[in-house]
Amino acid sequence: MNSGLNNLEPSSFFEGSPIATFIVNIDHVVTHYNKACAQLLGVPASDVVGRKGLGKVFYGAERPVMADLIVDGAMIDIISDLYQNTYRSSLIIPDAYEAEGFFPRLGTSGRWLFFTAAPLRNLNGEIVGAIETLQDITERKIAENALMKSQLEVEEIVEQRTAELTKRNSELNLLNAKLVTAQEHLVQSEKLASIGQLAAGVAHEINNPIGYIFSNYGMLETYLGSLFEMLSAYEGAEKSCGDPNVIKELQAKRLALEVDFLKEDIPDLMKESKEGIVRVRKIVQDLKDFSHVDAKPEWSFTNLNQGIDSTLNVVNNEVKYKADIIKEYGDIPPVQCIPSEINQVVMNLVVNAAHAIGTDRGKIWIRTGVENESAWIEVADNGSGIPKEVVPRIFDPFYTTKPVGKGTGLGLSLSYGIIQKHRGQIDVQTELGKGTTFRLLLPLTQTDKAE
Ligand SMILES: Nc1ncnc2c1ncn2[C@@H]1O[C@H](COP(=O)(O)OP(=O)(O)OP(=O)(O)O)[C@@H](O)[C@H]1O
Ligand SMILES: [Mg+2]
Repeated sequence: MNSGLNNLEPSSFFEGSPIATFIVNIDHVVTHYNKACAQLLGVPASDVVGRKGLGKVFYGAERPVMADLIVDGAMIDIISDLYQNTYRSSLIIPDAYEAEGFFPRLGTSGRWLFFTAAPLRNLNGEIVGAIETLQDITERKIAENALMKSQLEVEEIVEQRTAELTKRNSELNLLNAKLVTAQEHLVQSEKLASIGQLAAGVAHEINNPIGYIFSNYGMLETYLGSLFEMLSAYEGAEKSCGDPNVIKELQAKRLALEVDFLKEDIPDLMKESKEGIVRVRKIVQDLKDFSHVDAKPEWSFTNLNQGIDSTLNVVNNEVKYKADIIKEYGDIPPVQCIPSEINQVVMNLVVNAAHAIGTDRGKIWIRTGVENESAWIEVADNGSGIPKEVVPRIFDPFYTTKPVGKGTGLGLSLSYGIIQKHRGQIDVQTELGKGTTFRLLLPLTQTDKAE
């Protein structure tokens, strides 16, 4: 009833199939090879039919194709060896296999093929050959690869962005931490400044009464001298007094009032009190010198040795339990500087030196001198020393090796700034475990500063 299709020869059906197909017999000889196959592989049937070694067309070298392996009983170990993880058992035909691969020799720039090979059996079920079909999946593969590539690119970009963000975030965190310490330091130095102002105010107020106590004291000493002189005169006159009752009364009074003891003790009391007053006067003077709050930071010709002395008095508390201070001052002419700032530098160096000294009592040397139109100040300690790799960083702002809350790492950077402003120089020499010496050089005069 139907058209001529019923009479179609199996061979023309095979030939006309749009799916590239070939068959090998049990001896690996190609028996069938359709037009689509010739088209896909670019090799005419006449070159392959009736011959073995179709692998050469695919691989350019002697190698079994999948159909050959099926004919040999589909040895799974060889298949997996040749096709690694690109092959699998067919989902449709139980003892068929399929795989995909890239064939660089095919077409103009290679082709991706998906191929399936299945055994052909006779009526007894014995394998007599194998049929293999080939499908060109190049376009799909190209699309897949492009997709994969762009996916990878996207992933890479995401990774890059994430890394950038993480980096920026940690930079921000670092900056933030620095800001916090800077703020703490500002608060601290503001506190110090106001304490300094307070101290200077108090010092100024104490200075006046101390002044007249001191001068009155001198008078008091003189007057007491006169009184004692008068007393001895009276004592001398006692003998010539005729009335024994009066003499007795005087002696009793002298004993009761312990006048002999008073004569000995009063000069001692006076001496001690005088030392006390001198010390108070000195502390007040040092406070005034150090804080220099009564004067704006102004350039003046200053006695550096004196400035160092008043600074040492101020930091004495920080140092006296840790180290002995050895002063080796040279003769230096007045140096043109901002004295309060130089005091601050010396204070930073001395405090650092004290901090560098361990549990054993140490020594801090303070030396001064003149050399080529410059004054120099050295602050040396026999403390921990500074590791070589750290030395270049100690003048960096915020560089500190001290525990949180102990150091902000600004002492040396501020000092550096101050010395720069004075057109001077600050150098360090250090040996680990032996100690450190900081040396300041300050020009005696600043050419562009009026006195
Ligand atoms: N004499 C010294 N001996 C050993 N190390 C020192 C000495 N002077 C400075 N350093 C090192 O240099 C670092 C920086 O000193 P700097 O004075 O700038 O900061 P800091 O003392 O740590 O803190 P701050 O002075 O702000 O309180 C110190 O933490 C310390 O490690
Ligand atoms: Mg310091």
